[in-house]
Amino acid sequence: MHTFTPPPATYYDPPVSAPLSVVDPVSDGATVGVVTDQGVRDAGLVTTVTDGTEVATVYDDVESNPSLETAAAAADALADVDVAVAVGGGSVMDTAKAACARPAFGSVAAIRSTPADETPPAPDAATPCVCVPTTAGTGTETGHWAVLSDHDAGEKVSVGHPVLKPAAAVLDPGLTASLPPGLTAMTGFDVITHAVEAFVSTDASPLTDPLAVAAFEAALDALPNAVDGDERARDRMLTASYNAGLAMNNAGLGAVHAISHAVGGRYDTPHGLTNAALLPAVVDANRRGSERARRRYAALAERAGLPGGELSDRLRRLLERPPLDTSTLPRLDGVDDDLVAWALDNVNMTTNPAALQPADVRRICRIAFGRGDR
Ligand SMILES: [Fe+2]
Repeated sequence: MHTFTPPPATYYDPPVSAPLSVVDPVSDGATVGVVTDQGVRDAGLVTTVTDGTEVATVYDDVESNPSLETAAAAADALADVDVAVAVGGGSVMDTAKAACARPAFGSVAAIRSTPADETPPAPDAATPCVCVPTTAGTGTETGHWAVLSDHDAGEKVSVGHPVLKPAAAVLDPGLTASLPPGLTAMTGFDVITHAVEAFVSTDASPLTDPLAVAAFEAALDALPNAVDGDERARDRMLTASYNAGLAMNNAGLGAVHAISHAVGGRYDTPHGLTNAALLPAVVDANRRGSERARRRYAALAERAGLPGGELSDRLRRLLERPPLDTSTLPRLDGVDDDLVAWALDNVNMTTNPAALQPADVRRICRIAFGRGDR
């Protein structure tokens, strides 16, 4: 059986003036706290989003690949607010989601250790979280997962519990207009990766397939123009990110994200760029290891109208386009046993279509990050 968890109430293209006034948890005069990062704040996007809304506090100290400690610090900053508004990319939104959930669990560590089907000690104490993405990539505004870095262990952990689901999502395509080409390309490849992994996941279903296909098709078509700054293409990427996020939340992901979280936790690499380097190598490994994966990749390529049903070559061609530059990633000619074990133990590996072995993970890393042929 497959279950489908719907996204939160979603507001697309809100009014320019006082956009939050139309959003349920905010419009009743609640005390509002903002979670963001310094780059987003400097770009003026917090001012744009909170136009007409009184803001009691702003926490702007979220780093890329945010840590468990950052989520705790954000929760401290939000202690006296009624509603939190996350304005930023995946790092900001994941931090805010975990921070808002902390009062229900007592600590960030308790969120991590509480099974999804177990009610936390104070479920009503969670702060409603409104997610306003400023990048088209993560899709985390649609669901209850947050990815945080555990610096003690040197790995990224996926923290998931229904309490983390945002109260609302606000999709304003204008907010992505100022994103530089490099970040647009990296985050856009995260969208493509979510769509591909959700489609071939062992938990994919007729409920998630149309979302994954729509996101994949739109992102393949729109990403190059979005990188060049085309407004309509950036709009399409934001919707693709949302659809891919919804597919991912309900179908799960796969080996790209499992290995990406292990590598990103160790080397602090950008998530989208790490995925971009890994995706073609994982597609090839899964095709070698699973008949079902071969069929699903072919079906995705066919439904997306790729000539000859080929997928890997198309992805590689997209990878070669500037400004995506995977040569900036650390060179990993050999990976140690810990990194391999983290990748294989990562929750995303449980829905990968092929049962990858340590030798497969090493080979994928060598192709994606080694000095040899990519
Ligand atoms: Fe991702």
